[in-house]
Amino acid sequence: MTPVRVVVLDHTAQTGGAELALLRTVAALDPSRVDLTVLLFAEGPLVGRLRAVGARVEVLALDPRVAATGRHAVGRLGSLRAAPFVFRLARALRRLRPDVVHCTSLKADLIGLVAARLVRRRVVWHLHDRIAADYLPRPVVALVRWLARHAVTEVVVNSRATASTVLPLPRWTLAYPGLAPEQVGPDPIHRPTPTPPVVGIVGRISPTKGQREFLAAAALLADRFPDLRFRVIGDALFAEADYAEQVRAQAAGLADRVEFTGWVADPVAELDRLTVMVHASPTPEPFGQVVVEAMARGVPVVATAGGGVDEIVLPRDAEPRGALVRPGDVAGLAAAVEALLRDPETTAARARQAWFGVRRDYPITATAEALTAVWCRLAPGPGRPASAAPGRPSSGPRPVTRVSAAR
Ligand code: GLC
Repeated sequence: MTPVRVVVLDHTAQTGGAELALLRTVAALDPSRVDLTVLLFAEGPLVGRLRAVGARVEVLALDPRVAATGRHAVGRLGSLRAAPFVFRLARALRRLRPDVVHCTSLKADLIGLVAARLVRRRVVWHLHDRIAADYLPRPVVALVRWLARHAVTEVVVNSRATASTVLPLPRWTLAYPGLAPEQVGPDPIHRPTPTPPVVGIVGRISPTKGQREFLAAAALLADRFPDLRFRVIGDALFAEADYAEQVRAQAAGLADRVEFTGWVADPVAELDRLTVMVHASPTPEPFGQVVVEAMARGVPVVATAGGGVDEIVLPRDAEPRGALVRPGDVAGLAAAVEALLRDPETTAARARQAWFGVRRDYPITATAEALTAVWCRLAPGPGRPASAAPGRPSSGPRPVTRVSAAR
C-alpha cells in the first residue's frame, strides 16, 4: 500500500489551539497510510513537540515582519513582502512532492494556496477560525470565503459553527479536534473536591478568550464565597501583551485571591485542580477545545454561548453538558458559577455525564481517520484501502463529509 504524501503547512510554531490540535492528530495518524511532513514558517516550541511524537518537521522561515502580521492585517499578505517566500515555499513543495498540501492557519492558507498552485498540488484548507466580520476585517472575510469556494480543493472545519461561516461550499468535512487518550481522566466519581474551591479560566490571555469578563465575574463571586479562589491559566501569545497587562491590573483588585500560572506545559494538571472551569470568550469560539478538555477531566463547565461551544455543551442526542451564558454577560456568568457551587451533587452528576459524552464523541482517532479519508480520496493511488472513501454522513457529532452539488 502506498501511503498518501501530505505536507501540512502552519505559519506558527507557537502552541496555539490549532497547533495543539495538529500535534495530537499527527501523533494519532497511521504511518502506513500517511507519509506526512509538517512545514512550519517559524521556529518555536511546536517543532520539538512534533518531533517528539515522531513527525518529520521542516522550518522555512518567513520574513518576521510578515510573520508578525496580526489577523487584522492578514489580507496584506498579498503585499510584495510575502512574494519571495511564496517562491521558496513552492520550491520546497516541488522537492517534497506531496499529493496534498494541507494548510492549518489563515496565513498558511493564503500563502500555501498560491505556492501549491504554482507547483500544481491539491490544497486542503483546515479552518480553525470562523471566517466572520466579528473576528476578521471584512475584506479578509470576503477573500477567504471566495477562495474557499473557488480555489481550494477541499475545506475541513473544526465545527459546524465554523462551517456555517463559509458555506455554501462544494464539499466540506467536519473533523472535530479530538482528545488524546492521556487527556481523558478516570471516572470523575473518584474526583477529589478541591479545597478551597477554585474557579479557573484556561487558555491564551487574549481579548478573544475573555479573561477580563472572567475577572469581573470573579469580583462578584468573591463577595458571595469568602473562601473561593480564582486561577488564570495561560499566557499571552500572539502579540497580545497589552491585553495581558490590563488583565493583571484588573486582578489587582482581587488581591491574593487570584493566581496567574503563566504558560503551562500541562493543562491537564491545572484542570484537575479546578472546581469549575469558565470559558468566557466574548466572541463566538470556533470550536473551544478547552471546554472538551475540562469535561474529559470531569470538571464542571460554565461557558459563553456561541460558535462551536454550543455543539459541545448542547449535544443533539444528550443532556446539556454544562451551563451556557450570554457572551459578555458578567452577572449571568457569576450567577451560573454560583448555581454550580451551591448544588455540588447535581453539578458532579452532570460533569460525569459530560465525561462519558466527550469520551465517546471526541476521540482523536476519529479526527485522524477523517483527515486520512480526505487525503486518500484526493490522492487515489494503487493499493489504498477502501475505507479511504468519503466519510459517511452520520447524525451524531462525528467527523462527516458533506457534498453539495458537484462543481
Ligand atoms: C483555534 C480556535 C479554537 C479551536 C482550536 C482547535 O485555536 O480558536 O476555538 O478549539 O483552533 O480547532
